[in-house]
Amino acid sequence: MTIAITGATGQLGRIVVEKLKEKLPAGEIVALARNPERAGDLGVEARRFDYDRPETLAPGLAGVDTLLLISSSEVGKRGPQHTAIVAAARQAGVGRIVYTSLLRADTTPLSLGTEHAETERAIAASGIPHTFLRNGWYLENYAASVQGALAHGTLIGAAGEGRIAAASRADYADAAVAVLLGTGHDGKTYELAGDTGFTLAELAAEVSRQAGRDIPYRNLPQADHAAALAGAGVPAPFAEMLAAWDIDIANGALFDDGHQLSRLIGRPTTGLADGVKALIG
Ligand SMILES: NC(=O)c1ccc[n+]([C@@H]2O[C@H](COP(=O)([O-])OP(=O)(O)OC[C@H]3O[C@@H](n4cnc5c(N)ncnc54)[C@H](OP(=O)(O)O)[C@@H]3O)[C@@H](O)[C@H]2O)c1
Repeated sequence: MTIAITGATGQLGRIVVEKLKEKLPAGEIVALARNPERAGDLGVEARRFDYDRPETLAPGLAGVDTLLLISSSEVGKRGPQHTAIVAAARQAGVGRIVYTSLLRADTTPLSLGTEHAETERAIAASGIPHTFLRNGWYLENYAASVQGALAHGTLIGAAGEGRIAAASRADYADAAVAVLLGTGHDGKTYELAGDTGFTLAELAAEVSRQAGRDIPYRNLPQADHAAALAGAGVPAPFAEMLAAWDIDIANGALFDDGHQLSRLIGRPTTGLADGVKALIG
């Protein structure tokens, strides 16, 4: 059996490769990378796989039985990138695709959902047996805002009372490994999220507890939040996106209490206290 992983030099991809190596001979794992020279430390075969160079795609998938398609990080380009990867998978005779999508990709108000839903449709239309791992937010997404809160004494956001059922990258990586190595997952869509949601006020309270000083949460109007992020050096278009996502979060876009992630990985997901501990370092 050969399992290939896209984005293998990325943060999630690296964890998946490491976890797969604990359960499979390294010779059965292929790291697909835009720059294979950055994959040398992974200890598995690395193949060039650049979404913007379509000629690298089908050859990169030669002999691959199962493909873990970790979504591209190039927001706005992912529809055509992923569609080209799915076409290459068909051409190469890949037997199965596992795709890291977004929580409730087909109905989410998050702008990110459009490209994920488009990718899910392309995979479904390909006829290749598949599983969708609809990942919720990473706890690690809060690294910058927690560092900002420690520096300035206030955690800012615009998500109001919205609950965020985040989990760690390691949790989502364990789910990917469980599905890649397990059976009975074809045709399934898993809504993956942390066991316990938290509000940004609860995040601030946990940061305060661990830092040993009071760091309150300040909820801002969307435009003020975007301006504050831009003022802190976040590129303006990304600051606008982050602020808009917080409004979606306020409306419940990242809350889920289905516990499908902990069921898949056979353990509780990483909680808020451990997540904050990892962020504070
Ligand atoms: N659920 C969440 O909260 C959340 C948060 C952030 C991102 N995401 C999504 O989850 C994915 C994995 O997360 P992550 O933290 O591992 O992200 P990441 O560290 O940014 O990794 C993204 C991977 O995509 C690869 N990539 C981007 N453009 C490419 C191209 N043109 N050709 C080939 N490879 C390309 C990158 O290659 P290089 O290593 O060469 O840069 C990298 O390996 C992200 O890409 C994004 O779609 C989810």
